[in-house]
Amino acid sequence: MPDNVLTPVAITDTILRDAHQSQAATRMRLDDMLPACEILDDIGYWSLECWGGATFDCCMRFLNEDPWERLRQLKKALPRTKLQMLLRGQNILGYKHYADDVVDAFCRKSIENGIDVVRIFDALNDVRNLEQAMKSVRKYGGVCEAAISYTISPVHNEEYFVKLAQELESLGADVICIKDMANLLLPIAAYDLVKKLKSSVNVPIHLHTHNGTGTGDMTNLMAVWAGVDIVDCALSPMGNGTAQPATEALVATLKGSGRDTGLDLLKLSEAAVHFRKVAERLKAEGSLDAKVLNIDTNTLLYQVPGGMLSNLISQLKELRSEDKYYEVLAEIPRVREDFGYPPLVTPTSQIVGTQAVFNVYYGERYKVFTKESKSLLRGEYGMLPGPVNEAVRHRAIGSEEVITCRPADLLPNELERYHAEAGDLARSEEDVLSYALFPQVAAKYLTERNAPPTDANAPVTAAPDAVRVLYVQDLSAPQ
Ligand code: CO
Repeated sequence: MPDNVLTPVAITDTILRDAHQSQAATRMRLDDMLPACEILDDIGYWSLECWGGATFDCCMRFLNEDPWERLRQLKKALPRTKLQMLLRGQNILGYKHYADDVVDAFCRKSIENGIDVVRIFDALNDVRNLEQAMKSVRKYGGVCEAAISYTISPVHNEEYFVKLAQELESLGADVICIKDMANLLLPIAAYDLVKKLKSSVNVPIHLHTHNGTGTGDMTNLMAVWAGVDIVDCALSPMGNGTAQPATEALVATLKGSGRDTGLDLLKLSEAAVHFRKVAERLKAEGSLDAKVLNIDTNTLLYQVPGGMLSNLISQLKELRSEDKYYEVLAEIPRVREDFGYPPLVTPTSQIVGTQAVFNVYYGERYKVFTKESKSLLRGEYGMLPGPVNEAVRHRAIGSEEVITCRPADLLPNELERYHAEAGDLARSEEDVLSYALFPQVAAKYLTERNAPPTDANAPVTAAPDAVRVLYVQDLSAPQ
């Protein structure tokens, strides 16, 4: 029996967000989701993660969908299940810091349009970058789930994470999430960390891991045994590999135990039938590469998150340098050390990953810095967790001053400016926010959406794949 815990484990299913973001470059469409919603809503999940992360960008960029409309339709189709989203603190869903008024408006509109639970994280675990989003989510009645970005490094240990969790609780977190985006949290460490957190904070603990290293199921089970309250899983058609461990496996494992989830395997299987067809189609389209299902123990060495692996493969494909895959994987931890051990999660995963690609591609380390690498080293994303290689920093930014205050304190309110810039393109405050987050992508999408239809039967075409080449430079790649 689990140690003194006799309560059901609650399950969040990520099939509508992280599962396809990690396995299929975020290409699942609303039409792939809606037919399964009735059965999903009947399963009894604690929540369904279905929005945020890279879905917002991908909706407009590739799928010709309005992300807000997707959310409203999901809310209508899933009236009984809490809808969950992933928000990158002061970055919202974009790749830079936004002013507080934009963060506040985005949280309000997300909740108004149907989101119940907002998981908020910061890539650097700089709490100052979470404060505004946490305050806004609580103000508008959402469940505020604050996340610890889990990683392993000389500066990240149990004590560090417990202190961080206590700080998040004192700031008003309703739930604390251990966000293990790279499946680095090994089973026994998970047991210890969950135990520590359960005795150090009073709010529920929610575990998010992946299964790229093949240890995800064991990690979940050990966390369950230590008393974790909620666990993220993904329905089997897109479970495992770079995504979350399969829901059905955990549900079956816990059946009859003191921590039985109470979920019905037959209903899960019915939902899986639908998503198996979706996975087949994504495979046929080339969005789902079989590589993401391999167990890659290199992740334990390179600490590269699931979503980043599939993105790295497509970046290298664009550069016709697929043979450099393992070389880049080896370069990533070196860049990470130079940059002060940031956890590898959006946007730091792209920044470190792209810098590593550059270091290998140009045949000389730090011959070329990306704009984002410079910003990170200048402190524009917040405080780096460990000491930075000052020689590398100097090469990047010379003697420019490094920012030490909360980065958003340097940003005056900017919602009005986005309103003005978006002009007639925006027909709602939601459109203004889409524009604020992804100006070019949204401008193109909104122009097409607003144009009078020429032929109602014309097939919907996604953005040409050539656009993806730009990704390597502008870092707006999905993660
Ligand atoms: Co994840």
